Amino acid sequence: AKGGRLLILPGDHIGPEVVHEALKILDIIEHSTGAKFTRDFDLCGGCSLDKHKTSVTEEVLKKCEEVDAVFFGSAGGPEWGTVQPNPESGLLRIRERMQIFANLRPCMFASKALISYAPIRPEIVQGVNFMFVRENCGGAYYGNKIEEEDYGCDPWQYSRHEIERVARVAGALAMQHDPPLPVWSVDKANVLANSRVWRRIVKEVFDREFPTVKLQNQLADSLAMLLITKPTAFNGVLVGDNTFGDILSDEAGGLTGSLGLLPSASLAGPPGPAEAGGTLGRNSVGGVTGLYEPVHGSAPDISGKGLANPVGQVLSLAMMLRYSFNMHREADIVEKAIEKVLDSKADGGLEIRTGDLGGKAGTKEMSEAIQNTVREMLKS
Ligand code: NAD
Ligand code: IPM
Ligand code: MN
Repeated sequence: AKGGRLLILPGDHIGPEVVHEALKILDIIEHSTGAKFTRDFDLCGGCSLDKHKTSVTEEVLKKCEEVDAVFFGSAGGPEWGTVQPNPESGLLRIRERMQIFANLRPCMFASKALISYAPIRPEIVQGVNFMFVRENCGGAYYGNKIEEEDYGCDPWQYSRHEIERVARVAGALAMQHDPPLPVWSVDKANVLANSRVWRRIVKEVFDREFPTVKLQNQLADSLAMLLITKPTAFNGVLVGDNTFGDILSDEAGGLTGSLGLLPSASLAGPPGPAEAGGTLGRNSVGGVTGLYEPVHGSAPDISGKGLANPVGQVLSLAMMLRYSFNMHREADIVEKAIEKVLDSKADGGLEIRTGDLGGKAGTKEMSEAIQNTVREMLKS
């Protein structure tokens, strides 16, 4: 039987609002397919700080290690600030504990209708379609930090093992296409020692294990510029360090019009069937252990008003179905349903879009349109 064990961590501000809507889609899928997901709800972020004085408890970290997938909303908000431990530290500890080292952040248009809404001219941005594979458990985010009154230090370091495993995920994603997609390794090897090691080891992995994939190097700073001027030149797979991946994936949100549209998957091993991906990071149902969250944050400026765009969270659900539960048909249906909704108009002739996309719809309205479409598509 399909399904598995889920831990749901809605987090703060709009996190719970959009997670709630995404789970309604999961209800519909369970109902129609007979799949069964056990759902355990718990705290991470500011909500956990308020209740337990820690951004994530040891109990929750243990649960993260035991489930087949974690479905995450977003953590943080001005009321908690940045003094440690802040809400965001909970998410970082979960990523570290689960060893979900490959953060997949796709950049493409959720629908053709959005191309005209994107801030970049349509002829430049249409057809953009890349996957950023962000290293998620190392770099400047982790290691022995020093934080003193007048001095702060984040050691920015990578070792062979960390580079090899994330490079393999990028290679596996490229190989899912025939011919294989091109891969760009993103670094600052002109300046940073850890980038030079990164560049060399990524090349070793591709030469040895993915000889048919075209691998190129791309400096991170010029990539930031080229993503605006020639985004389709990077159609394929990009693989880069934690910090570059964080910043450049938000830029991808700007490219396609709204951060509210973008999903992400953080995986403990390569995607694909176990035979192709090996045993690394497999869960109890033969998928990849993962945490799924939108790229956007808790959006405190719009929380509590029913205005948040649920699409990033719902697309994260689709990624979860695909990578952790091998439910490819259902994942495709959720993605196509979103495309259909964004391309359609409601009864009054208005587009069904939330405010971040220039529309008048609320979270509920947008979500209900997606739910109805998913229900229809599952029937046929
Ligand atoms: P943000 O992504 O929360 O918001 C940036 C802008 O995008 C805001 O104007 C917001 O209203 C808009 N936006 C974001 N998601 C939207 C959605 N679904 N629908 C409509 N509009 C949306 O970034 P921020 O304001 O810099 O950060 C707010 C808090 O979230 C901070 O505490 C930050 O650390 C945290 N954060 C958490 C995560 C996470 O938990 N994964 C990720 C990023 C930021
Ligand atoms: C993200 C966020 C996180 C990060 C924060 C909230 C820890 O910005 O998921 O992109 O920097 O990784
Ligand atoms: Mn980010």
